[in-house]
Amino acid sequence: MSEPLIAVTGATGVTGHLLAPRLSERGLNIRYLVRDVDKARALLGPEAELVAADLDDRASYDHALQGVHTLYLNSGHSPVLEAQQTNAIEAAVAAGCERIVKLSGNVDSPAPIPEAHKALEAKIAACGLRYTFLRPNFYMTNLHYLAAGLKDGDVFTSAIPRDVTMSMTDPRDVADLATTVLAEDGKHDGEGYYQTGAAVSLDDVAATFSRVLGRDIRYEMVDVAVWEDIVTKRGLPSWLIEHQVKMIGFAANGAYSYVTNVTADIAGHPARTLEQFITDHADAFSRAD
Ligand SMILES: NC(=O)c1ccc[n+]([C@@H]2O[C@H](COP(=O)([O-])OP(=O)(O)OC[C@H]3O[C@@H](n4cnc5c(N)ncnc54)[C@H](OP(=O)(O)O)[C@@H]3O)[C@@H](O)[C@H]2O)c1
Repeated sequence: MSEPLIAVTGATGVTGHLLAPRLSERGLNIRYLVRDVDKARALLGPEAELVAADLDDRASYDHALQGVHTLYLNSGHSPVLEAQQTNAIEAAVAAGCERIVKLSGNVDSPAPIPEAHKALEAKIAACGLRYTFLRPNFYMTNLHYLAAGLKDGDVFTSAIPRDVTMSMTDPRDVADLATTVLAEDGKHDGEGYYQTGAAVSLDDVAATFSRVLGRDIRYEMVDVAVWEDIVTKRGLPSWLIEHQVKMIGFAANGAYSYVTNVTADIAGHPARTLEQFITDHADAFSRAD
């Protein structure tokens, strides 16, 4: 009998693009639901089963989920995240899927995206299918944005107090956890996994950058209003700025300092460290000249 079919969304994204090699290594039967088949084909290779589907289009999910056993639900930040993923949940129920594994986040934060994830988790828990929620903390890849200034300078800026820690998660660990949960059908039902790496302050981040990149890098804390001005000039949409301001306020109270052993306990290896992440992505933070 062939492996039950798993439909994977968000496979071209930050954590999603790391999933394909892991899932094929486990011999899982995967159908990737993608918006742009040509873009996904270039990323996922000639063997991948691709079906065109858009979370804004419920009918495309009704079609794409036919014959699917498990839906892996992940998509990027959006002001209409709740409506988009509701389409997928309702389509999964209508198509007779048995299980949903949803990539969420910290659902306790009073900000628009976590609130959408929380509402979506409640819908999944009530829909009758088996489910698991993955709740990683702050992705280390956010540093590509936060520390974008390191391409042409030695300072990066945010409004998070320098002594406050946040536990940052390497997206490779998120992909490892998702792969394990998808592969171990029946073992993780009803669970919500808060996944983190070690807790570090932005001064620790600066020290790690300095050590790995071999130059003196500093973190500069600014007022939230100054930070808003900086990201507005960088072109961040107003809904995302509003979301991030709320997240910063929450982070400043130490709400993201918690540390868990989920990566070791479930994915089977220690959480990757910030030093490892920066070392492996050093080119992205190195000076352009
Ligand atoms: N960033 C963090 O620190 C963090 C921490 C915890 C949890 N999270 C959660 O992780 C999730 C992913 O966030 P991310 O920023 O890393 O984004 P991402 O994975 O890079 O998300 C983009 C993915 O979503 C797909 N997508 C976007 N709109 C879609 C649509 N209408 N229909 C189908 N697919 C669509 C994109 O496909 P295309 O290639 O077609 O654009 C792409 O594959 C979010 O729900 C976020 O809340 C993030």
